[in-house]
Amino acid sequence: MKKILIITGGSKGIGEGIIKAYLAKEFAVFSISRTTNPHLARLGVVQTALDLTKVNEIQATFEHIFSLCGENEPQKITLINNAGTLGEIAMLNEISTTDISDAFNLNAIAPMVCSSAFINLSKHWKASKTIINITSGAALKPYFGWSVYCSSKAAINMLTQTVALEQQQVANGAKVLAIAPGVVDTDMQSQIRNTDEANFKDLQRFVALKETGALNDATTVGEEIFKMDHNSDIPSGSILRVEGKN
Ligand SMILES: NC(=O)c1ccc[n+]([C@@H]2O[C@H](COP(=O)([O-])OP(=O)(O)OC[C@H]3O[C@@H](n4cnc5c(N)ncnc54)[C@H](OP(=O)(O)O)[C@@H]3O)[C@@H](O)[C@H]2O)c1
Repeated sequence: MKKILIITGGSKGIGEGIIKAYLAKEFAVFSISRTTNPHLARLGVVQTALDLTKVNEIQATFEHIFSLCGENEPQKITLINNAGTLGEIAMLNEISTTDISDAFNLNAIAPMVCSSAFINLSKHWKASKTIINITSGAALKPYFGWSVYCSSKAAINMLTQTVALEQQQVANGAKVLAIAPGVVDTDMQSQIRNTDEANFKDLQRFVALKETGALNDATTVGEEIFKMDHNSDIPSGSILRVEGKN
């Protein structure tokens, strides 16, 4: 395996779009999500079923994936922390403790633990290494009803900048980027459009984006993320946005 992608949340949506872009460039792909996608299995994607809110199980999963990578070091290895959830859309005081904790675990703690495992397990590799955290415009802009989502995405923006700073000071450290995909036509957007307006004041804006055909498609977003991963002019620690239709 000369080029390797490890991605969370590859089973559908943006993750599936990203996987298609990397498969087209002959990457070996390892995906972690709760369910597996039979189409991706036929394309040779190695899928591990794991609920990433169980953050204590991540280290063992990464050890297993690295054991499958073989003894020959790759030239390039990329980790994309993509799995994410809006969680329950409501005012913070109406969201259960379990939902707050599960959403924050998936969106922020899992990317931290995955990144830590990735850095340690590839520490002695000379390969070019990149960590990409899939963020959101919601990291910077507060939305009524999205307190957990917005704050978890803000956390991974700062994670990106902090780990980039650390990795610049170790030999052959990883490059770290955060990329916001824009508003993309996935199940996450269906969930938004099905929210009660009392719980999400910006509902009509997202309904209009769908109705006017202004949503980005996951395949194009995957290709743009691939290009950003391979653009050596982009400095580590950058927080980027896919320039799509919205
Ligand atoms: N769509 C947008 O407009 C948009 C905008 C900005 C940012 N984003 C970000 O883009 C990323 C992907 O979103 P998407 O729109 O593609 O969402 P999606 O269609 O809902 O897909 C989410 C992915 O995450 C996985 N996942 C969810 N919960 C999980 C869990 N507990 N453990 C393991 N995997 C889990 C899902 O797989 P399983 O169900 O098989 O577990 C799926 O592969 C997220 O980080 C999201 O915040 C999306």
